[in-house]
Amino acid sequence: MSEQQSIENKEVLTLEEASQLFQVSTKTFLKLLREENIPARKVGREWRFSKSALLQWMSEGNSRDYSLIEDQNQAYFEQVAPVYDELRKGCYGNALREMLIAKFTPKPGFEVADIGTGTGYLAHTLAQYAKKVWALDSSPAMLEVARKDFLSHNLNNVILIEGDAHDLPLNDNSQDLVYANLLLHHILEPSLAIKEMFRVVKPDGKAIITDIDLHNYKWLKEEKSDLWLGFERAEIKGWLQEAGFTAIEVTDLGCNCRTSSKSGTLVEIPMFLAVGTKPPTIKRNKNNYNKEVNH
Ligand SMILES: C[S@@+](CC[C@H](N)C(=O)[O-])C[C@H]1O[C@@H](n2cnc3c(N)ncnc32)[C@H](O)[C@@H]1O
Repeated sequence: MSEQQSIENKEVLTLEEASQLFQVSTKTFLKLLREENIPARKVGREWRFSKSALLQWMSEGNSRDYSLIEDQNQAYFEQVAPVYDELRKGCYGNALREMLIAKFTPKPGFEVADIGTGTGYLAHTLAQYAKKVWALDSSPAMLEVARKDFLSHNLNNVILIEGDAHDLPLNDNSQDLVYANLLLHHILEPSLAIKEMFRVVKPDGKAIITDIDLHNYKWLKEEKSDLWLGFERAEIKGWLQEAGFTAIEVTDLGCNCRTSSKSGTLVEIPMFLAVGTKPPTIKRNKNNYNKEVNH
């Protein structure tokens, strides 16, 4: 019996089965469970879900359809693109990219990627050092603002790509460094995006991720299209480990992200810097091969 059939025939679902019903990973489903009012009960340490209660809950519009969430996210950036650079100045200035790129400066000859480049905030500065910058975003309107900026500054070594961070249109082992600033809290499955970063970065290359710490400003979901209320640093570290990165460090970025609600509440959210290195490939020679076999 296929997994789908088994769900069709069951009323009481496990966490894995309920996640399948929602067509999201168990991690995303757990996040939903934490943040939304999903009908669920705990039996000992295990979660159990009544399928009919879940379906009823969804049909009442309590659940936001997940592809709809992605569409809304894209619509938000399509709408704000023309004014995004002005908005950004209020949230975080140029100091963030200057500090970050001073710390992780591409060497001449490097190919680097800026995932969720937006209007090209990091890519603009990276292009002054790297041989080639792949600047990827899912929003055509944001990329259009970036294109005009690169053109007016003669930054001919930036390649703009419309694409999805969950499924990068970049070759395996092709990038010396991969950056992502304030992308993860806007996407459905940050852990998947981190796995993609691991895939495209070269051995010895690094993923450099900056984002906001866990917070409780729920209005950011409605007003700024945030999908995650920031992250626990341990969670980010776990995702980097799971992806295969080593020498992982998740530390204070030393910058806050400022933002204000429609009602005028101004908040400052601390940001973290997460760095992981892809392990070098093991060069096999007779000696170290033997060592592995003897272990
Ligand atoms: C808060 S902006 C940050 C932009 C830029 N990194 C910066 O520092 O100014 C988040 C960007 O992520 C993009 N984005 C959202 N979901 C995405 C996805 N699944 N794949 C690629 N980009 C995405 C948005 O279009 C937006 O441009």
